[in-house]
Amino acid sequence: MSKDTLTITDNRTGKQYEIPIEHNAIRTADLRQIKTSVEDAGLVGYDPALTNTATCKSKITCIVGDKGILRYRGYPIEELAEKSNYLETAYLIVKGELPDRKHFEMWKQNVTIHSMVHENIKKFVDEFRYDAHPMGILVGTVGALSTFYPDAKDIFDLESRRLQTRRLIGKLPTLAAFAYRHSRGLPYVYPDNDLSYTGNFLSMLFKMTELKYQPNPVLERALDVLFILHADHEQNCSTNALRSVASSQVDAYSAVAAAVAALYGPLHGGANEAVIRMLMEIGSVKRIPEYIKKFKSGEGRLMGFGHRVYKNYDPRAKIIKRVADEVFQVTGRNPLIDIALELERIALEDDYFVSRKLYPNVDFYSGIIYQAMGFPVTMFPVLFAIPRTSGWMAQWAELVRDPEQKITRPRQIYIGEGARSYVPIAQRPQPDMREDAVSESI
Ligand SMILES: CC(C)(COP(=O)(O)OP(=O)(O)OC[C@H]1O[C@@H](n2cnc3c(N)ncnc32)[C@H](O)[C@@H]1OP(=O)(O)O)[C@@H](O)C(=O)NCCC(=O)NCCS
Repeated sequence: MSKDTLTITDNRTGKQYEIPIEHNAIRTADLRQIKTSVEDAGLVGYDPALTNTATCKSKITCIVGDKGILRYRGYPIEELAEKSNYLETAYLIVKGELPDRKHFEMWKQNVTIHSMVHENIKKFVDEFRYDAHPMGILVGTVGALSTFYPDAKDIFDLESRRLQTRRLIGKLPTLAAFAYRHSRGLPYVYPDNDLSYTGNFLSMLFKMTELKYQPNPVLERALDVLFILHADHEQNCSTNALRSVASSQVDAYSAVAAAVAALYGPLHGGANEAVIRMLMEIGSVKRIPEYIKKFKSGEGRLMGFGHRVYKNYDPRAKIIKRVADEVFQVTGRNPLIDIALELERIALEDDYFVSRKLYPNVDFYSGIIYQAMGFPVTMFPVLFAIPRTSGWMAQWAELVRDPEQKITRPRQIYIGEGARSYVPIAQRPQPDMREDAVSESI
């Protein structure tokens, strides 16, 4: 008869342990009972990048990597990208269900009225260097919001959590646009609440002297679809950073600032920028075979290919490819697309990529679209952070309400020196010997 347990034999002691299995997982805390002696602290799981460790139970986003499935609250990403809009998807992610008409209107209104930021934030942005990276500005300004809303410390109050969620989703485009305008030396554009979420964002970015900015409806919709695709992606690096920081019960602005910081890194939010740089370096379709050869020999990677979770295809990449066609009808064709298409065609026929299950990911085409729409590469991770805010806030609320969660505090395997006595500086080894010893640890 089958049992939902795991039997472990410790060959060091010959003892057997029976550990429960729930949701196809064991609790690594159950390993602690496996000891060789009373002094032994017990067995731990060693998983440096948490590649096979679940840190929470979640109802928000489901990914089935080997089938190329991504669903928010049960709804397939393909359907949402085709039929929904970003604000409705954000409602779904944050609240768990699609809204009825009345609740959607209320939600839209409640998010939109929070699009303004305190005037002091403007001064704050002003003080960054003229060439400051917009992600650096975003980390700073999102964190600074916590000083404007001390009420956000009340994280166990439902109404406060709702308010911070609406504020953050409402304000992120404004902070992002201010960061962009600052880097261009352009005056800030205040929100236009008559426009849609993405229409207003485009206005705050690109409005010049016209009295009212009219977003191109195709580009407005394309950005909206890209926002839907980026709204959540379960326990990725920035969400894990957010959960870890939020587990200390800090306010949501500080936790989201930590998430934005994680997204700033080239392995996370910066991959689409790396794709653009790679495509520009390749420069022409003729040079693709030469580069494919390099990637296969381990000299660099084919950026925008491969994924830690998706081992069949990234469902977002398919949708983005379609969006690219629509955008190019308006902006004209980004010449890099021809290189990208040919790279994809060759890679998908090549045994190296096929056998390693390396397929285009979301970043392979998104950068080409953003570039065609007029965004500088430094804005790419910012365009990721804006929609991901709804995912972060949903994950944050889930964490705060989860009775099983505590302050995050992983274990380590200590491999350093044993106990030793302090030696006064005058009695320590010669300088050149010490330099050798120290250089190993930095
Ligand atoms: C996304 C990524 C980090 C996933 O990495 P991972 O799941 O840890 O996979 P690994 O790094 O273990 O790679 C497995 C194998 O595929 C190869 N590989 C993975 N991605 C590759 C790529 N983009 N180009 C060439 N080879 C690649 C590795 O060299 C390795 O080969 P080996 O088994 O012969 O050593 C990785 O595929 C990558 O670096 N892709 C490019 C960057 C990118 O697009 N990032 C955005 C992700 S959304």
